[in-house]
Order: sequence, then structure tokens, then C-alpha cells
Amino acid sequence: MFRRKSYPDWAAVLAAFGLLLGAAAPWFALVLSIPPPAVQADAQVLTDEGGGPPSPQARSGDGQPKLIALTFDDGPRRSTTTALLDGLAERGVKATFFLIGGQLENNEDVVRRMDEEGHQVGIHTFDHVRLTGLSKVDFDAQVDRTRQLLKNILGHNDFLLRPPYGIMDDGIRRHAGCPIILWSIDPEDWRDQNTARVVEQVVSSARDGAIILMHDIFPESVDAAFQIVDRLHQQGYFFVTVEQLFAARCLPLEAGQTYSDAYP
Ligand code: NI
Repeated sequence: MFRRKSYPDWAAVLAAFGLLLGAAAPWFALVLSIPPPAVQADAQVLTDEGGGPPSPQARSGDGQPKLIALTFDDGPRRSTTTALLDGLAERGVKATFFLIGGQLENNEDVVRRMDEEGHQVGIHTFDHVRLTGLSKVDFDAQVDRTRQLLKNILGHNDFLLRPPYGIMDDGIRRHAGCPIILWSIDPEDWRDQNTARVVEQVVSSARDGAIILMHDIFPESVDAAFQIVDRLHQQGYFFVTVEQLFAARCLPLEAGQTYSDAYP
């Protein structure tokens, strides 16, 4: 017959300690994945450079950071686009620009700045024309010509396409040669160029994974973009490029496919 041991049961102690460690592990993982304050650089939320306390609002229901993509069409326009880049840099925000090929000449430095500051650059045709019903030759004169110009300026060749007016057909899907990006929030900022209305409309429809369509050729839209960023930062959103948005959600972007959002 065994005598009852007077010293602690080390196996039980170790097991209990193991259980404690196991219970704590998710919290260590959470601490390691805390995003930095939004104002530093939103894209850092996607890297391991985190630090600082998380905002209680910064995560959606399933614990993921709330991500949103600002996209700007019809530029570059030196005056407004440069002002926009200044304000986005101050706020640590990355955006996506769908550019008009015919406006690249004499704006190469603006396009290079977008690229160097971590924004994403895409194609919005050469002349801002409808791409539906075009032959391959005419399509290439709009899309591939712009792609080549961007490639010459930036030295890479991985540009997304946004067709003007968001009008799509099978020919566009066949000829695109890259993913096609539409949007899920459109405040029609070109319509009245009313800063307050645009801000209200975007902020009230914002949700995790959304793609916002705006135009960086109007000063009112640039002002609206800053207010939208400031308001949505307060709600815990992080602004990322389209590519970062889909990568963060493990949604691969494929050539000839159309994407309007990355809602969870
Ligand atoms: Ni456009």
C-alpha cells in the first residue's frame, strides 16, 4: 500500500501550469498583433511592426482590423493630386489611384511620388472612354498603352484596371490582362462637388472591406477625403491599398475577374 506523499504532486502542478500557458497563449498572440495608432501608418496594421494600445473599435466582430480602401479616379491633376498626397502622408494613409494615360505627360513626378509613398497605381484608360464593345486593338490603345507608359515611369508592371463608369462586358474581362476593380461606395463626388454631403454619404455607408470611389481632380473631393479619413480613423478604420485589402482577407486577385469589395 502506498503512503500518501507529503510533497506536492509535481505532475499535477506541471499540468496545471501547462493549462495556464495554453489559456494565455491567445492573449500573447493578440498582444503581438496589436496594430499601431492609425495616424502613424495604416498599412502597418498588416505588418508585424505593431506597438501601442489597440482601439476597442479597431476590430470588427471577428477580431480582424477594420480595413477600407480609398480609391481615386481620373487623375493625375497636379494641383489637387499633390494636395491630396500631402494630406494622406500627414495622416499615414495609403490609397489607390486609377490614372488617365493622357494625363501622365508632365506629371511623371507625381506618379512616381504616389508609388514611392506606398500608394497603389492603376489604369483608368488613356482617354477616359467606355471600354465596352472595343476591338482588341482599340482596347489596347486605351489600356495597354497606359500600362506601358506607367511601366516606363515606375519600372514595374502590375497595374489594376478600373473601367470608366464601371461599365463592364466580356470583352473587357478577356482583354484586361489584370484584375478589374470596381467599388462598393460611390458618393458621386463629381455631381455637386459638395464636401459636406460627400463626407456624410461615405461615413454613413462605411463598412469593413469597402472600396470607396472618389476623384482627385476636385479640391472639394480632396477636402472630403481628409474629413472622411479623420472621421473613420476615429471609428477605428485603417486605410489600405486595394492590393493590401484583398491580401489581408486572403482573397487572391485574378486577371479578368471583377472585384467590388472585400466584405468579410
Ligand atoms: Ni473616371
